[in-house]
Amino acid sequence: MTELELIIDLHKNSDRQGPGSEKDTQKALKFLNLPTDQNLKIADIGCGSGGQTISLAKNLNGQIIAVDLFPEFLNELNEKSQKLGLTDKIVTLEKAMDDLPFNEDEFDLIWSEGAIYNIGFENGLKKWKDYLKVGGYLAVSEITWITQSRPKEIEEFWKAEYPEVDTTANKIRQLENNGYSLVGYFYLSQDSWIETYYKPMQARFETFLKRNDNSELARKVVEDNQAEIDLYQKFKEYYSYGFYVARKNG
Ligand SMILES: C[S@@+](CC[C@H](N)C(=O)[O-])C[C@H]1O[C@@H](n2cnc3c(N)ncnc32)[C@H](O)[C@@H]1O
Repeated sequence: MTELELIIDLHKNSDRQGPGSEKDTQKALKFLNLPTDQNLKIADIGCGSGGQTISLAKNLNGQIIAVDLFPEFLNELNEKSQKLGLTDKIVTLEKAMDDLPFNEDEFDLIWSEGAIYNIGFENGLKKWKDYLKVGGYLAVSEITWITQSRPKEIEEFWKAEYPEVDTTANKIRQLENNGYSLVGYFYLSQDSWIETYYKPMQARFETFLKRNDNSELARKVVEDNQAEIDLYQKFKEYYSYGFYVARKNG
């Protein structure tokens, strides 16, 4: 297996492929003011195995197109939605998030947890806005500095990993500069990183290594993920995922 295949193998059986939780999805949903008597059209971009897609399907009336680049994650989501009887509400689509076959003004809601960074926050805001109806909502979580200053080590790490990392105020300004108005914001708690993402991932390390014959590459994947966890533990006061809920202006 390649390193990418191993990374998918480590993550595909989990509820979440990034920090976040059912509670966070519910909290973000509360900021929406959408008609309850209409069938909504919703996209969940970078859905992974669809932890949040299932919550959206249970809480909203309408159809969700759940998009991801990797069929392994979409297969997991399809299995879950079959078991839960949600196949009439969730359709999966294997596509790159910067090459979507959507129409202008098609969606009431675009959701994306922990995924917009793949094409860059501002690029995503611009590209996806066309697909939203005027008054439609964008709900995205994005890596964010939660303090005004921070130690050089973590600043340099994130600037190298993701140069668009920024403060909440600057992310909100980007939303406003691109034709959205913020309706709600919060950042993920430490539990949403540790309890619902990192601890379940660590619990899978052993079976993952066994399944992959303890290969050098599999060990590297575990080491890299453990290093990410250690970094979070050391610097968790300074960054999180900000959850931004905004409305497209007319
Ligand atoms: C950190 S995970 C978040 C997954 C899920 N939303 C969650 O919160 O559990 C990022 C997701 O984006 C997907 N992804 C990465 N690059 C992508 C691209 N260019 N187009 C579509 N999906 C992509 C990955 O496969 C992965 O499922």
